[in-house]
Amino acid sequence: MDGKNGAPGTGTFPVHPSLAPLTYLLGTWKGEGEGGFPTINSFKYGEQLTFTHSGKPVIAYSQKTWKLASGEPMHAESGYWRPKPDGSIDVVIAQSTGLVEVQSSSELSSTSRIMTHPKGTRTDSLGLPDEIWLSFGTSRLWKTDNWIQLETPTQESKGTYDAEKKVVRLQSELVGNASKVKEITRTFEVVNGELSYVVQMATNLVSLQPHLKAWLKKL
Ligand code: HEM
Repeated sequence: MDGKNGAPGTGTFPVHPSLAPLTYLLGTWKGEGEGGFPTINSFKYGEQLTFTHSGKPVIAYSQKTWKLASGEPMHAESGYWRPKPDGSIDVVIAQSTGLVEVQSSSELSSTSRIMTHPKGTRTDSLGLPDEIWLSFGTSRLWKTDNWIQLETPTQESKGTYDAEKKVVRLQSELVGNASKVKEITRTFEVVNGELSYVVQMATNLVSLQPHLKAWLKKL
C-alpha cells in the first residue's frame, strides 16, 4: 500500500528502517500493574498501552490506566519515542497530571582516554593533570609521569535500547511542571512475549525508588 489514497495523513506505510530494532513493541498491550511509594497506599490498576507508527522514524506511545475494581479511569499519558542508530533513544512523554518528561540521549557520561609514551600506548588513567596543556571543547590534553593523556568525553545515552535483549531503559533528563517529582526512570522489557515495565521516581522527599510495576500481553 502506498498510502496515497484516503484522507491526508492516513494510510498504511512501511515501518521506517530506524524503528527496526523496536518493532517488537508495536501494537496494543493490555494487563495489570501495582503501584506504591513510601508516602502513599499501594494500589492495583489495569492498563492498556499502544505503540504505533506512521512510516516516520518515530513511535507514538499512549497509555491509559483504570482502577481494577471499578474500571474508573486513573492516570494516562502519551508521547513519542525516537530510536537512533547508535542504540540511544529520545523519548518525550506528557502525563494527564500535567507533568512532562524528556528522556534525552545527549548526556556526557563516559570518557575515552588515549595515552602515548615513547614505550607505547595505554587507555587506563594515570590520574588528574597537574597542568593542562590544551583544552578544546570537552577534551583536554595533559602530561602525567611522562605519559601524554588525551581525554575525550564520549556521547553516551541516558535512554538506551538493546534490540536483542528487548530492553529499553529511560532516564529522565528533564521533568517539568511537577511540584514533587525530581527524577523518573523507566525500564521496559519483553520476555516470552510479555511486556513488563518498572517506573521509578524521586520526589523532593523520597529518593529514587519504584512507583509502578506492570505486566502486559499483546492483544
Ligand atoms: C501518587 C507521580 C504514574 C497512581 C503519586 C505521587 C506522585 C506521582 C508524585 C505523590 C507521591 C507523594 O505524595 O509522595 C507519578 C509519576 C508517574 C505516575 C511521575 C509516571 C511516571 C501513575 C500511574 C498511576 C498512578 C500510571 C495509576 C495507575 C497514583 C496514585 C497515587 C499516586 C493512586 C496516590 C494517590 C494520589 O496521591 O493521587 N504519583 N505517578 N501514578 N500515583 Fe502516581
